[in-house]
Amino acid sequence: MPTETPLTIAQGLGWAADQLSASSETPRLDAELLLAHALGWGRARLIAEGRQPLAPEQLGAYRQLVARRAALEPVAYIVGHREFYGLDFAVDRRVLVPRPETELLVELALAFARQTFERSNVQTFERFRIVDVGTGSGCIAIALAVHLPEAQVVAVDIPPAALQVARRNVERHGVADRVRLAEGDLLAPLGEPVDLLVSNPPYTIVSEIDEGVRRHEPGGALDGGPDGLAVYRRLLAQAPAKLRPGGALLLEIGATQGAAVADLARRSFPKARIGVHQDLAGLDRVVTVLELGRLDMTR
Ligand SMILES: C[S@@+](CC[C@H](N)C(=O)[O-])C[C@H]1O[C@@H](n2cnc3c(N)ncnc32)[C@H](O)[C@@H]1O
Repeated sequence: MPTETPLTIAQGLGWAADQLSASSETPRLDAELLLAHALGWGRARLIAEGRQPLAPEQLGAYRQLVARRAALEPVAYIVGHREFYGLDFAVDRRVLVPRPETELLVELALAFARQTFERSNVQTFERFRIVDVGTGSGCIAIALAVHLPEAQVVAVDIPPAALQVARRNVERHGVADRVRLAEGDLLAPLGEPVDLLVSNPPYTIVSEIDEGVRRHEPGGALDGGPDGLAVYRRLLAQAPAKLRPGGALLLEIGATQGAAVADLARRSFPKARIGVHQDLAGLDRVVTVLELGRLDMTR
């Protein structure tokens, strides 16, 4: 980077986008998010004030952030937060960065809960219980709690460090009275059965994980065993004892896992209606298990 003459904001963005073009699919967006973070501004202001010069200390701070991104660190870890389902979540290396495709799981869960509420009496509505297995940042559990003000949610994870991040987010979104964070393996911490079981479990085969993800995100959030299905097998074996009659189970899956996870689900819930749902990219993304007598998902 030329250092003799001060760079303007627009020039700094151009330089950073260029630096990141080999390592990121979204170099310009990353450049803007990182500069906005370095300056403590919104992105719109960067464009409006593009001709302003960057002070040497601002440029120095920006260069450090760009170097971290060039080493494949997710932007969300560098800036310390990420939007998911319209809500802002604190994230760092202790938890997986929430992915946009996981929003489908939340959408389907909300559709199921709302249809249930519409056809139930108030008492049922107030006792609607949800468990989120493998909560990470808490993004799924908290999005559901925010949008379903009467639901009670248990959010489970193993590493206490991940649960510390989830606690921060639970408090940030004002749902600490309805989201209980529980340390433990899969459904072990759950007492009473629930109406809705949701999970985005680890489902990746380690050798297939992207370099940047492997280098920076927690391995325990991703490793689905030799065929990617290890956690689904254990979770689906435990689930029938922990789901109320007529409840639903929604699992995020990898794009090639629809048939295999649906098959595992059928073995655990032989009488249930089982569906595979596609994300906005048209890829299989969520398996739904609805026990007979319950409602259809809306999509
Ligand atoms: C793919 S991440 C999902 C995180 C978050 N729910 C999301 O969608 O961004 C999987 C999470 O499951 C947790 N996990 C892995 N094995 C688990 C187990 N046996 N019991 C509970 N949680 C587990 C990991 O620690 C990680 O936080």
